[in-house]
This record gives sequence, structure tokens and C-alpha cells, in this order.
Amino acid sequence: MSESIDFLVTNIGQLCTVPAHDGGPQRGHRLGDLGLREHAAIAAHEGIIIEVGDSIDLAARYSATHQIDAEGRLVTPGLVDPHTHVLWAGDRADEFERRIAGATYQQIMAEGGGINRTMLATRHASIHQLIDETKPRLNAMLAHGSTTIECKTGYGLNTPSEIAMLTAIALLDMEHPAELAATFLGAHAIPPEYADDPDGYVTLICDEMLPAVVQWRDEHWPGTLFCDVFCEVGAFDLDQTRRILEAAKAHGLGLKVHIDEFESLGAGRLAAELGAISVDHVVVTSDDDIEAIAQSDTIAVALPPTPFGLGLPHYTPARRFIDAGAALAIATDCNPGTGWNESMQFVMALAARYLHLTPAEALAAATINAAFAIDRADHVGSIEVGKQADVVIWNVPSYPFLSYRFGSNLAHTVIKRGHIAHSADWRALLAWMG
Ligand code: NIG
Ligand code: FE
Repeated sequence: MSESIDFLVTNIGQLCTVPAHDGGPQRGHRLGDLGLREHAAIAAHEGIIIEVGDSIDLAARYSATHQIDAEGRLVTPGLVDPHTHVLWAGDRADEFERRIAGATYQQIMAEGGGINRTMLATRHASIHQLIDETKPRLNAMLAHGSTTIECKTGYGLNTPSEIAMLTAIALLDMEHPAELAATFLGAHAIPPEYADDPDGYVTLICDEMLPAVVQWRDEHWPGTLFCDVFCEVGAFDLDQTRRILEAAKAHGLGLKVHIDEFESLGAGRLAAELGAISVDHVVVTSDDDIEAIAQSDTIAVALPPTPFGLGLPHYTPARRFIDAGAALAIATDCNPGTGWNESMQFVMALAARYLHLTPAEALAAATINAAFAIDRADHVGSIEVGKQADVVIWNVPSYPFLSYRFGSNLAHTVIKRGHIAHSADWRALLAWMG
């Protein structure tokens, strides 16, 4: 008698389970452990993986309401995008034209463009409009294999607009098949009304915004809520970053920091000292700070689409982080200024070429380590019994293809919590219907 379950994927040519290591991320030179299996199958029930094993064996022992034949393809965990600014209104195509003609990102920001420009469009948008503009981007992310996506606020920059952004994230999380992690980024830029009093804005964040955000969290957001700061010349300096992070920590928020995108301010050591879950960008990080990060539990999140999007030659020195023993993850940083991109496949392709990650390292950085960078590794990021059935079937036979090819979508079928969330093949959908 076979056991009745609701979901079974059989005939997997190459399965990457991408295990956690000792309950933590894959650190240093141990990055790239894909936990490979051949001729495998995954059995799940009510959205949770119950067995991973040999395809013929599992097909004989289980009868599933929904059974998918992977036809020898590659299967991986759903990709995790641990750093995005995917929620915004409008665009900045004209700034891109100026940047290509020679203006720098910082120059445009100093003139009131950049983040503050998107802030104006976002403040003026209704929550409906914000959701309508964001959904196609989330659809594209999901269609390219991302089943869990972090999403930051940071285009409101006053209390009501930042709370409106959090509310939009919560609504999208309920409605969209992708699972969202939420980050409060009130410290993304100094808004124009505080141009002459940046410390006054920091006080507003600490004394008014954070308490409002915490109240919002207690009423609407059961999981971890993060607080992020853009620590950079022209944004928040090291002292201001410390004030905000310490206040956020006292409220029980998880900490993230944008550091060393353009200039090194020494925030790596600060983040490690405060127990931040991640430091992101880490392009011009000093050796001392790399060492401090590597000695801590803080994950370094590289965002290769950002230098690519800005046409800059410097990328995160990923091999130095790996040599120092740090845990490394990768993300899109999807945003309207430095890098409007939705595909973690593209991120893996860039990471192989410019961060010098092997295809196996890139995949682990885009799955299990990315899940740890947003505190979701208890249920996503790897294919392990007890975790959510978040699975991608790829239109390629083996994992190196995910970094080797680029520019077209290689995802065949994307599964979230044991349900098809996207498929490029109508026959798969028809088979799903039974
Ligand atoms: O991570 N660096 C700060 N924030 C974003 C850019 C946001 C924007 O330009 O709208 C980033 O690159
Ligand atoms: Fe960012």
C-alpha cells in the first residue's frame, strides 16, 4: 500500500539539496557544498518536505495528488533574494542617461535626485498604486526562481510613509506566492526637510519612527523585522549609524547595514560588535573589517548587480571574505537607481565572473546562506526534511549551467510550499491538474 501525500517530484537528474552546516550557513572554504544526489525524488505533504530519496523507491512508496516528472532535469531549493528595494513608485531612467554621460550616483544624490527622487514618487503614491507597480517585479523574481524575497522600506522617509511601505509589504506577503521578509530602512537617505539637520532626522528615526515601527510589528508582523542603515558618505555616518542600530536593537529588531558601497567608514566592525545579521555591499571593506566580520556571525551579502548597474569596475572581494572564513550570500539589490534587476540567475552569473565564485559557491550563496542572511533558514534555503517544499525545476541538466548561461530565464517550474507558483511549460500545469 502506498502512502497518500499531496506532492511528489520524481525523475530528478541532479538534485542540489544545499545543506546547512552544523545548523548554520556554509562558511569560508566550505561554501559550495551542494549535497548532490542523482535520480532523486522529493516527497512533500501540506507544503513540508517529508522525504528526499531515490526516485524509483519514492515513486513506489507514495501516491501523490500532484506528481511532477522532472524528466532528468536539475532541481534546486527555491532561490532566496536577501536584499531588495523592490517596493517603489516611478522610475529614474533619465538619471541613468545622465550617469552614462558621466554624472556619478553621488553627484545626482547631492543634487536632490537619487533616493529622494523615488521618495517623492513613493510618498505621493497610494498603497494600491505601490502594490500595483511592485507586483510585476515580484512576478518576475518568482518566475526566475526566487521563492523568498527580502523587501526594504526606505522611500517614505517620514513616519506615515514608512509605515505605509511596511503595510504594502505585509499585503504583498499575504497575496503574492513569494514569501517576503521585511526591513525598515528609514535611514536610507536624509530627506530634504532635514537637509540642514541630519542629526535631527536621526533623532526622528530613534524617537518617533522606531517606536511606531515596533508597534506596527507587534500588530501586523509575527516574524523577525529588520532595521537597516545606509552607512555612506552623503547618507549616514558611523556615529549616526551606531545611534540608529543601538536603538533598533533595544527594540528587538534584527540588524542589517549597507556598508562600504563607495567609501570605507569602518561599519563592518560596528555591525559585528552589535551582532548584525548581515552587512551588505561590502565592496571597499578594509582587511580589518573583513576579519571582524569573519570572526562574527554576521553574513556578508554581496550585490554584484549594483557595480554592474553603475558601470563601475569594483566588486565585493568575495575570495578575501571566503579566505577569512566569513559566510557569504548574494542578492539582486533590485532598486530603481543603481540596479533594476529581478533575477538571481543573473546575480549568480555575475558572481562567477566578477566575484570569482565557482558555480557551486554561487548557488549556495543564493540559497542556504541567503536564507540565513534573513533569518529564514529554519524553513527555506535547502531541500531537507521538515523544511518548506520550495523547489525549482530547471531547464538544464546540471548546476554549472545556472552561472554559465545568462540572459534568458532557465527556470522550468517554480514551486512554493508544495504548489506550482510559476511554470514555463503548460504541460506541467496540465499534469498538475491531474
Ligand atoms: O543599495 N545604496 C543605497 N540604496 C540602494 C540604492 C537605492 C536607490 O538608488 O534608489 C542600494 O544600492
Ligand atoms: Fe540596497
